Amino acid sequence: MAISSKFGWGLVLTTSLLLACNESDPSVESSSSSVPSGEELYALHCASCHGESGDLGVSGAKNLKTTALSISEIKHIIKTGKNAMPSFRGVLGSDSHIDSVSRYVTTLHK
Ligand code: HEC
Repeated sequence: MAISSKFGWGLVLTTSLLLACNESDPSVESSSSSVPSGEELYALHCASCHGESGDLGVSGAKNLKTTALSISEIKHIIKTGKNAMPSFRGVLGSDSHIDSVSRYVTTLHK
């Protein structure tokens, strides 16, 4: 009984190259979504006067570590500015940015 088991080697050649799938999103950096963190916004817009930790005090900038303001008062000052501090409503753009930077300011409080 001759069992002529002829395996079709041709199948091996059909390695239909799945490489065609261009991996378009290889580096998923979870933190760099469309909304930057409060910390990033603070470093970008506020640290120049208030300092990384809130107590630099450039041109009379209040110490954010010891501020007695509530989060809503902080938001208000960010939106409207106060004396030497300019308004950041236009710079930060959206309320969600103002929210997150305000929340970050409250974390500076020691
Ligand atoms: C150009 C310098 C400058 C920048 C930039 C700046 N500030 Fe200020 N900030 C000041 C000054 C000056 C004051 C004090 C205003 C006053 O009471 O006369 C102040 C006051 C404040 C106060 C009130 C603190 C208190 O106890 O009265 C908060 C809160 C504050 N800044 C948050 C921020 C945040 C958040 C940012 C970034 C979005 C920012 N500041 C950017 C200069 C700056």
